[in-house]
Amino acid sequence: MQITKLAVIGAGTMGSSIVMALIMSGLKVVLKDTDSQVLEKGLNNIDQFLQKKIDKGLDPLKAQSMKKLIIPATDYSEFADVDIVIEAVSEAINVKKRVFEELDEWCNLDTILTTNTSSLSITQIGSFTRRPDKVIGLHFFNPAHIMKLVEVIPSMETSNDTIQAIIQLANLINKVSVKVEECPSFLVNRLLTRYMNEALWCLQGKVAKIDEIDKAAIDMAMPLGPLALRDMNGADIGIQVANYNFKEYGSRFEFPQLLNNMVNNNYLGKKTGKGFYLYSENNPKPVSVNNEIYQLIDQSLPTQHSNVPVDIRLFLPMINEAFLVIQEKICRIDAIDLALKTGLGMRIGPLELAEKIGLANCLKYLEELYNLFGERFRPAFYLRKLVYARKTTVL
Ligand SMILES: NC(=O)c1ccc[n+]([C@@H]2O[C@H](COP(=O)([O-])OP(=O)(O)OC[C@H]3O[C@@H](n4cnc5c(N)ncnc54)[C@H](O)[C@@H]3O)[C@@H](O)[C@H]2O)c1
Repeated sequence: MQITKLAVIGAGTMGSSIVMALIMSGLKVVLKDTDSQVLEKGLNNIDQFLQKKIDKGLDPLKAQSMKKLIIPATDYSEFADVDIVIEAVSEAINVKKRVFEELDEWCNLDTILTTNTSSLSITQIGSFTRRPDKVIGLHFFNPAHIMKLVEVIPSMETSNDTIQAIIQLANLINKVSVKVEECPSFLVNRLLTRYMNEALWCLQGKVAKIDEIDKAAIDMAMPLGPLALRDMNGADIGIQVANYNFKEYGSRFEFPQLLNNMVNNNYLGKKTGKGFYLYSENNPKPVSVNNEIYQLIDQSLPTQHSNVPVDIRLFLPMINEAFLVIQEKICRIDAIDLALKTGLGMRIGPLELAEKIGLANCLKYLEELYNLFGERFRPAFYLRKLVYARKTTVL
């Protein structure tokens, strides 16, 4: 497919960084938002991204020509000849519905319509158009011009040609693309949520302290601890994601009341200066642990000690979810570690981690924790089969 002109709808956090990713590869892009004021904000974001590149050695003239590839818009007059649209408007089904109905009216019948939604159904979004075969999920990670991964999520109706065209676009902008079957939260955020929840349970269950949990995760695999990451993203956003997954997947995605208590007390993280850590202005790093968090722990609940080391326990729910994903054929087995490494910056993926711990040990630990704490640790049957077959590797 010839890809010469794209459009991004929504000039917010994601829209502006997606546009940056596109112009870095020399692609012409229409950027549309509801009014010129928000549009201007998005364009200013892009100026800042470009300035950072100039500071790192990009020729200012090249930066200027990249900026010229953007066609700012507050209406659809530039959309007729667009090859691919990337929708990045607010995460509300009614907003997406209106936008896709409008896109269906204004775009050429061949135009592919993609959505960057994190949680809404791609099949449902496709149903708002007369071209569900040309609607597909294209899920970027924040910031889109830096993070290498995109998840490509076909709906029940998406055609093969559409999938191929979007993989072609991903290659064109130097992204690693992983095809993921439609399921709540797709691949990376589904696995991430299980691990983020377990970090809260370790705290609630007095298994480890705030800094011990983050250190264990960093030493094992992560660029940043789960509690520091939650502070960065905001507990208010975190609770929406946690609630959504609990509603979709049920009790294995249960999370402690502690998160609600944090939101109710305005301990949202960096944005309010207080979360699991305390923050000061102009300092990107936390100043110290916020000991007030320990007072939000429900003292009526029992401790959750076990013989499983805390670093392994933190990752077991994510590892187990990876085996469930294999069972459900959500993606190619070899795509799981690749996606988690490129999407989250993990040094070692969940399946490699499982092999390092030992598949039989993973099962033994999961069974022990399942007997103590229930659903969160019910071992995936696929893992059981690997152990019965005396396999030591997953692939
Ligand atoms: N923020 C993240 O980390 C992240 C990561 C991956 C995916 N996403 C998804 O990307 C999408 C956008 O998220 P965001 O964080 O950039 O949101 P945001 O609130 O920063 O930006 C949304 C933008 O959409 C604009 N908008 C709303 N209705 C519109 C309409 N009808 N036409 C044109 N523009 C409209 C708003 O004015 C705003 O500028 C959501 O679906 C979200 O779930 C977000």
